[in-house]
Amino acid sequence: MPLPAQLTWLLGCVGSDVVSRMQLSARGSTSPLNNNVIATTIWIGLSLNIHELIRQHRSQNFALHERYLNPQMVRVLKTIGFDRRYVRAAGPYLFDEQGERYLDLLSGFGVFALGRNHPKVISVLQDVLTEGLPNLVQMDVSVLAGMLAQRLLETLPVGLERMFFANSGTEAVEAAIKFSRAATGRAKIVYCENGYHGLTMGSLSANGEEYFRQGFAPFLPGFEQIPFADLAALERALAGNDVAAFIVEPIQGHGVHIPGDDYLPGAAELCRRHGTLFVADEVQTGLGRTGRFWAVEHWNVEPDLLCMAKALSGGFVPVGAVACRKGILEKVFNSMDRAVVHGSTFSKNNLAMAAGLATLEVMREERLVENAAHVGEQLIAELSPLAQEYELVKEVRGRGMMIGLEFAQPKSLSLKASWKMLEAANKGLFCQMITVPLFMRHRILSQVAGHGMHVVKFIPPLTLGPDDRRWIVEAVTDVVADAHRVPGSLWDFGTTLARQAIRMKAGVG
Ligand SMILES: Cc1ncc(COP(=O)(O)O)c(C=O)c1O
Repeated sequence: MPLPAQLTWLLGCVGSDVVSRMQLSARGSTSPLNNNVIATTIWIGLSLNIHELIRQHRSQNFALHERYLNPQMVRVLKTIGFDRRYVRAAGPYLFDEQGERYLDLLSGFGVFALGRNHPKVISVLQDVLTEGLPNLVQMDVSVLAGMLAQRLLETLPVGLERMFFANSGTEAVEAAIKFSRAATGRAKIVYCENGYHGLTMGSLSANGEEYFRQGFAPFLPGFEQIPFADLAALERALAGNDVAAFIVEPIQGHGVHIPGDDYLPGAAELCRRHGTLFVADEVQTGLGRTGRFWAVEHWNVEPDLLCMAKALSGGFVPVGAVACRKGILEKVFNSMDRAVVHGSTFSKNNLAMAAGLATLEVMREERLVENAAHVGEQLIAELSPLAQEYELVKEVRGRGMMIGLEFAQPKSLSLKASWKMLEAANKGLFCQMITVPLFMRHRILSQVAGHGMHVVKFIPPLTLGPDDRRWIVEAVTDVVADAHRVPGSLWDFGTTLARQAIRMKAGVG
């Protein structure tokens, strides 16, 4: 999941001195980059020693990306001072070339629920690689996929009896859309404002954020957007009895929006009444993230299809999956002739399936769902007083290890004026005044949750312990307190941000 808000305002900040001027760094800046020099490697005939290659080219990651991949991303990282060179990762921590330790509350957009480089998953993957197993035979059915399907279904709500594997979250959603159409014979898909389901064409057609849609129209026909957490709107959308599926995140990732307790059960009931399939997109919320194995468990909801991905392979191998009712899959693959009517070449590959089995085992052994619930609840409890103490903080909310800090326009005059200045430059810009110093001063990696929103989001590994919790609470308190000092270094930085955003809008830079 990209960082929309972080990206949009930053793309215009050319060769910015934002970071140097804001004087937020608690330590020296990273060494200067020499982007023009890319070491030439003679690849032909080279016996590929990956350790040596990485060591030789480590200092060239930005230059290589600038030249051969997406230079705008490099620009963003340099502009906000996130251009560290990470050389090692373990659990919830990243380590840079200076040996500095960072607490990663982004966890690769949620894939590292187990933390990074979990030894058990590594050992299982090594075993699979050295075993010489047949893989992707295609005219065969793999035992690893069968076992993972069985284990996953044991964790899932009643009624979900079949699995389909894919390679990513968006592929899982694509499958859910196609399966819903095939199973119902209907074309329409209803989705929510601000919802996020991935960026391939089908998922993008169900994407409720304008930022991601711009420039990619036309979208698939038959998709209708309704407000999130609004049962009356859903009822109106389903009234014609012609909707194949309603797709919804149990907790919206962008903004960490948690619906009222009647919403998901009510939505499931409306779907049943109107013959619409209820698709829970648990790509982000699934596998323990919210303190339950599946987020729908918070509301005892039984979806017809449930999409998962991200954490499923411990972050090692791309993977996605859809669990669904038996009858749905039977309608898709309804004859021998249609046995391969939907699929993808790499899905069910041995590495992804074995990593999935290992992930489920680690989650059970280390009681990660319980830890997510417990530490998440403590974190929310310890951060919540900020909303009473500091006028910029509107709310701290979340479930388990999916936590959002929402900020809002303050009342006091000087702060309000400064907030408005930022907002006029770019809606949602204020959150950069939180995420950047969290990183620069406290070495905490976090993200802004959605374009134009005032929410900073934490989706850390589910393994966080008491020391990490203290690290977060102290850092957030320090940064939030500083954001209330006007004038102050943070607002100097804010002013620079605003100037940059205005220049960007004006097309300068
Ligand atoms: C709820 C949800 N659905 C789908 C996706 C798409 O997953 P992927 O990026 O693996 O395609 C995401 C990614 O962030 C997500 O959060």
